Amino acid sequence: MYLAYIKGVGSYLPSTILSNTELTETLGCTDDWIVSRTGIHERRIIEKSEATSDLAYFAAEQALRDGEISPEDIDMIIVATETPDHVLPPVSCQVQQRLGCRTIPAFDLHNTCVGFLSALQVAEQYIKLGTHQNILVIGADSLTRFTDYSDLGTSIIFGDGAGAIILSRSEKEAKGLISTTLHADGKYFDALYIPGGGSRFPVSEENKNKMVMDGRKIFKLAVKSMSEVLTETLKKTGIEKEEIDWFIPHQANFRIMEAVARNLDFPLDKVINTVSYFGNSCSATIPIALDTAIKDGRIQRGDMLAMVSFGAGLVWGSALVEY
Ligand code: UT7
Repeated sequence: MYLAYIKGVGSYLPSTILSNTELTETLGCTDDWIVSRTGIHERRIIEKSEATSDLAYFAAEQALRDGEISPEDIDMIIVATETPDHVLPPVSCQVQQRLGCRTIPAFDLHNTCVGFLSALQVAEQYIKLGTHQNILVIGADSLTRFTDYSDLGTSIIFGDGAGAIILSRSEKEAKGLISTTLHADGKYFDALYIPGGGSRFPVSEENKNKMVMDGRKIFKLAVKSMSEVLTETLKKTGIEKEEIDWFIPHQANFRIMEAVARNLDFPLDKVINTVSYFGNSCSATIPIALDTAIKDGRIQRGDMLAMVSFGAGLVWGSALVEY
């Protein structure tokens, strides 16, 4: 068995900002209400001319640069996304072509806000088995294209963006990616979903292609599941919570992040928060938060990171990584 570690990290956020004040008039709420319920001040919105593969490509370029690795040295690409440019083909193939990679395997993984952690777990297997050396793992989403801006719950939370890492075989003694844990339960599949645009209600049927969310149900289940899965991961690895340098939860609502941190006794100054200014970009939130905190100097090589996420499905999972 080999070790897998994060060799490079990158992210990309569209430049258009959607502030709370721009939303309050239509929604009939105030900036203070949005901030007090979610911690969110503004979110990023994809340009009209862009699609998810553009966000994914720009994040991937940065991760390659950061890891000082050329596209020819990538052995596989996995893109976690709910919002591909088209129903087919996969976004990963567009990224592969645009980066100029070899004809390496490239596929998309569809696991909502836990997509990035799921892709990380898949990549982990190939690296640890030794069949692959460098895997590009991307989380990229443009859920604002599927947001109903007359719906309070979803329009205040969601934004767009992409984050990417290069997961590589470790050449030296390091812990790297220590453990990943994933769970799913389809019982509440309709607590957060997009009814149309798939095989049940094809795109020709109107008004079914926007997100529908039972925010209160999701809130409670998110706090419970993320607290439990991180406790499970810590227990199975024998790592104490005091050893965690940085907590990187899925960025959906700061109150949820705060509640999970409190349940696990993580001090709030160890919680990486990007939701306040970038919003919830689904599968992209964790790699965006990781990249942000590396670039601003908080996360250093050797730091122990606890990542945890929750999303539509319902799905939840966590990962422990020594960066
Ligand atoms: O990408 C993932 C998906 N989406 C989300 O994570 C969104 C989750 N939901 C929300 O962010 C919020 O519900 C909205 C911002 C959409 C709406 O806010 P709200 O209408 O003010 O709802 P809320 O925040 O007050 O509701 C949260 C629920 C409440 O349950 P009841 O009383 O309605 O049954 C709270 O009592 O969660 C409960 N709650 C908590 N549960 C566990 C509040 N704090 C906690 C806590 N632990 N610390």
